[in-house]
Amino acid sequence: MTMSFEPGAPAPAGAVPLCVPELRGNEWLYLKECVDTNFVSSVGPFVDRFERNFATTLGVSHAVATASGTAALHIALLVAGVQPDDEVLVSTLTFIASANAIRYVGAFPVFIDAEPAYWQMDPQKVSDFLDNACYQEHGERRNKATGRRIKGIMPVHILGHPVDMDPLLQVAQHYNLVVIEDATESLGAQYKGRMVGCLGDLACFSFNGNKLITTGSGGMLVTDNAAWAQKAKYLTTQAKDNPIEYIHGEVGYNYRLTNVHAALGCAQLERLDEYIATKRRIAQAYTHAIEDIPGLTPMREAPWAFSVFWMYTLLVDVYQYGRDSRALLQHLAQAQIQTRPLWQPLHLSPAYRGAYCTDCTVAEGLHRMALSLPCSVGLPYTDQSRVIQAVRDAARLASATSVEG
Ligand SMILES: Cc1ncc(COP(=O)(O)O)c(C=O)c1O
Repeated sequence: MTMSFEPGAPAPAGAVPLCVPELRGNEWLYLKECVDTNFVSSVGPFVDRFERNFATTLGVSHAVATASGTAALHIALLVAGVQPDDEVLVSTLTFIASANAIRYVGAFPVFIDAEPAYWQMDPQKVSDFLDNACYQEHGERRNKATGRRIKGIMPVHILGHPVDMDPLLQVAQHYNLVVIEDATESLGAQYKGRMVGCLGDLACFSFNGNKLITTGSGGMLVTDNAAWAQKAKYLTTQAKDNPIEYIHGEVGYNYRLTNVHAALGCAQLERLDEYIATKRRIAQAYTHAIEDIPGLTPMREAPWAFSVFWMYTLLVDVYQYGRDSRALLQHLAQAQIQTRPLWQPLHLSPAYRGAYCTDCTVAEGLHRMALSLPCSVGLPYTDQSRVIQAVRDAARLASATSVEG
């Protein structure tokens, strides 16, 4: 019988989970301090400390903690001036939260394909769209098909690897577009020696349970623009002008991170370098073990990139490997190993039916072929060997089946 794994639920005893948190530093100590000092809500010393330390780690001027990565994206779009009926270019191969945040402000996503080498937003397709499928009117770029103004680009650095940013930044500057990096999956990754999150006008991070560092739920908006950072803090705190008289300048949000969550964040951030080194070691071991198996393509790192390999993913070629990615998922589930395909590309999602998109055939192929393997920071060596052995066994079984006819 196929073993099932409930998304988000702990993997059953004896199983190898996909990606679970590692909470073995100062988490208990800092949480106790929150309880002992009665600072458990959305103000407190850990919130300030987390924001300060995060900004320092990235080398940005301002960091504003939020209740989630999705909240950070929503606020980033608002402070960047994205208006209802605008369009924002976004990767089609991403978690749906990236596009949802665009809809929250009343704007529309334009879905852009992935490039085949590193699976990130394709800068060539961005340029092609802006150059050929748009027109200029009163100093603004508009989509020929919809007539809507193009306001920005949201590159999503998926799976721990950066997007090729230079061509994107160039075209954004040419057409005067704001760049909001969705860096939720790639804390610590670098592009040509520069930290992801410092490349565009604003960037957002997530600290949900499977991210490189976790606060349970949480996010961070970073920017070098002081006015935007101030506005972000204001909007995340119900846009409160006068805390005594409860006067609010506009409609705001309850999006602040609590001191309890920030306490976890401070403890986790202390171990970021160690986590990244471990993720890279896990990735190297997988790549070394599978690169000789016909039909499996390991995820790669561009020569201009430093990847944190947040979610180790491979591609399965059904013709060469003998089974497709979903059959491999089932095989591994039976061996009590939790894996996951990549997200359905958003231009195919029922939630975005009818949305404008470029040709997105690369993302569609990646969706069919990709499978993410267990890669928790705390993944024991023996568990990784078990995963590798199970992947090898699946290949052997598949070729035996095809020989038998
Ligand atoms: C690419 C991407 N964007 C946005 C988010 C949203 O982050 P959160 O779950 O913290 O709201 C996630 C997290 O799962 C993500 O992977």
